[in-house]
Amino acid sequence: MARRAGITPDAWQSDLLRSDAKQMILLCSRQSGKSTVSSILAIHEAIYQPDSLILLLSPSLRQSQELFRKLKDVYNELDAPTLPQPIEESALRTEFDNGSRIIALPGKEATIRGFSGVDLLIIDEASRVGDALYQSVRPMLAVSGGRIILLSTPFGKRGFFYNEWTDGEDWRKVKITADECPRIDKEWLKRERQMIGDWWYRQEYMCEFVETTDSVFSYDDIQAAMDSTIEPLFGVS
Ligand SMILES: Nc1ncnc2c1ncn2[C@@H]1O[C@H](COP(=O)(O)OP(=O)(O)OP(=O)(O)O)[C@@H](O)[C@H]1O
Ligand SMILES: [Mg+2]
Repeated sequence: MARRAGITPDAWQSDLLRSDAKQMILLCSRQSGKSTVSSILAIHEAIYQPDSLILLLSPSLRQSQELFRKLKDVYNELDAPTLPQPIEESALRTEFDNGSRIIALPGKEATIRGFSGVDLLIIDEASRVGDALYQSVRPMLAVSGGRIILLSTPFGKRGFFYNEWTDGEDWRKVKITADECPRIDKEWLKRERQMIGDWWYRQEYMCEFVETTDSVFSYDDIQAAMDSTIEPLFGVS
């Protein structure tokens, strides 16, 4: 289907599109094709699983709109009158005549509660989505047994994306650095590294969970200072 939409997927994109893993985390470089592959996956599910509910979550309204625009482009490229047709469309939502719905949600908790029976939940730029939001969307998969896919560049050693990547069990984990992306020129990358400096380069292109620049103590030092044998003060447990 991706090829029919004019996109020859990279190996990791094909792998994601073919995978039936219930939980997947993709730690990806900037511009590696995260949003593109998310759009294809969402459209595929909507077309071939009638009555499915697909939610796309990203940190801001602008990013959700952008993702949705990509998704419409993919669908329009398919150009097949025999496919399920959109019957209701808005800037952030499409409903097809096979009963499937794709809804893009901006990263605001208030607008998100209320969906249930979600078949596929895709969180784009997941490292920048807040923990409270993540906790409020996970239950939507409980009854439906739906799939969840997190795609993101790293954003410091904090938050659910970092925690799931490092300690999460039952996740299929895939990392795609910029030098593994065939569309990112090696010479360009070298110059970019000089331009933006090592810290940004390691985060944005090499997918490293680097410390935030303004933290006084490193995450590893704080973790090393923890001691579970010490009784908490004031009876807090
Ligand atoms: N398999 C592919 N073949 C050709 N072009 C692709 C492929 N995957 C992605 N692209 C193109 O690469 C560019 C970046 O893709 P996309 O926006 O999906 O990446 P991203 O990882 O979401 O980027 P960002 O980090 O900026 O959000 C787009 O122009 C997209 O059309
Ligand atoms: Mg993107």
